[in-house]
Amino acid sequence: MSETIADTPLAVIVLAAGQGTRMKSSLPKVLHSIGGRPLVGHVLATARSLAPTSILVVVRHERDLVASAVAEAAPDALVVDQDEVPGTGRAVEIALAQLGDFAGDVLVLSGDVPLLDGDSLAALVSTHRGSGAAVTVMSAVVDDATGYGRVIRGASGDLERIVEQKDATADEASVTEINVGVYVFRAPELRTHIARIGTANAQGEKYLTDVVGLLHDASLPVAVSTAADASAALGVNDRVQLSEAARTLNARTVREWQVAGVTVLDPATTWIDVTATLAPDVTILPNTHILRATVVGAGATIGPDTSLVDCEVGENAVVRRSDATLSVIGAGANVGPFAYLRPNTVLGAKGKIGTFVETKNSTIGDGSKVPHLSYIGDTNIGRGVNLGAGAITANYDDLTKHRTEIGDEVHTGSHNVFVAPVRIGDGAKTGAGAVIRKDVPAGALALSVAPQRNVEGWVEKNRPGTGAAEVAARARSAQEAGDGA
Ligand code: UD1
Ligand code: CA
Repeated sequence: MSETIADTPLAVIVLAAGQGTRMKSSLPKVLHSIGGRPLVGHVLATARSLAPTSILVVVRHERDLVASAVAEAAPDALVVDQDEVPGTGRAVEIALAQLGDFAGDVLVLSGDVPLLDGDSLAALVSTHRGSGAAVTVMSAVVDDATGYGRVIRGASGDLERIVEQKDATADEASVTEINVGVYVFRAPELRTHIARIGTANAQGEKYLTDVVGLLHDASLPVAVSTAADASAALGVNDRVQLSEAARTLNARTVREWQVAGVTVLDPATTWIDVTATLAPDVTILPNTHILRATVVGAGATIGPDTSLVDCEVGENAVVRRSDATLSVIGAGANVGPFAYLRPNTVLGAKGKIGTFVETKNSTIGDGSKVPHLSYIGDTNIGRGVNLGAGAITANYDDLTKHRTEIGDEVHTGSHNVFVAPVRIGDGAKTGAGAVIRKDVPAGALALSVAPQRNVEGWVEKNRPGTGAAEVAARARSAQEAGDGA
């Protein structure tokens, strides 16, 4: 961070006590997620990037839920409880009381304005310190100001006050410069004037915005810093704005990875959480979701139509039209199309989990392949193994789950059932259609299907007059003629 910020102590107050009525949700608004993090988690990550002296988060609605999200995102933050007096002004007043006689700068952030980045906030603090203002308000000029507080400027262009939508006259409502809900105050002036605000307004709340008007009326310098990128100033009040914020954040995340050397062919249908990590020369094809703590190695190709949640994908692996959670996909491995990797699947280097294959809690060794139509659960597979099409591990006997152990270099026939617990030794083979109920020793061939018996002439005898009997008779005559020649 810039040196000016380090010079004067900076306290950050994050407002997160509101219910978020317009979300119509049982979940507090600030806990709704975009980009893999709750709204308040984004605000706290940005706050922490400024390395402030302290971070205070004001809570009230569902306070325990919000407090635990705060503890996760910013263990160093202090959670402060708002009382029954409503309003952003009251929230700041209560947090400020926790700061004692703190005389530095106070940056106020809204828990529902998630997209502002650290650089913009650092610039706001610098501007504030450079101008010597008592408060610097962040504003934005928007096409649709509905719902926001409007910045009302006097004849000289100075900010005189902020008027909430519900308190605005038609003239005031036509103003398109809005209050972002982010401010830097000098603590002593904030302390003096916040004590003077009341609740005489349309919502019966203590508005933080009224402090700005009071500072102006007291002839203290009030500054405005207009955000260059209004889309970053978006507040989330309902689910339409939530989706807009998600899209804006995602576009930013995708762009950052593109600049860092990742090919993303279709940013509009690619969703990357802020918690995911991609190496250079990764290629992401359309309709792909890279979520939570997923890490993708260099040269890997993911998609199209793929979702990875908390996965680790090795270099040069290919994952097509598949869904994977909490799984490891080795370097150069191949997954899909249409594979379903459930938690704790570990696929070795150059391994394959192919078409219509479901795996769970299983390790598939280096170079081993489960190519087609299989269910592999609670299984250890060694290296260089090939399972025939339609392999099923019967891991559940109605009471408990059991493991299947398959050694190295095992090749199994098509359509096998492995009734766990069972072991297949190194280098063993199994025949088609086998139901493996007993261990197979290393190097053995296991057959469990009865030898085939052909009843000659059965169709002609038992289905006379049918098309099948007719062609069978013809084939028999041709065969006999051939034999006679
Ligand atoms: C607020 C501003 C408005 C601005 C907008 C920007 C006020 C009075 N209005 O309006 O000028 O344009 O943000 O997004 O400040 N909160 C508390 N305690 C409370 C009430 C709210 O902590 O008693 C928190 C909320 O959880 C939320 C934030 O403060 O994170 C803003 O509250 P909200 O009710 O959404 O204010 P807006 O109506 O959006
Ligand atoms: Ca809001």
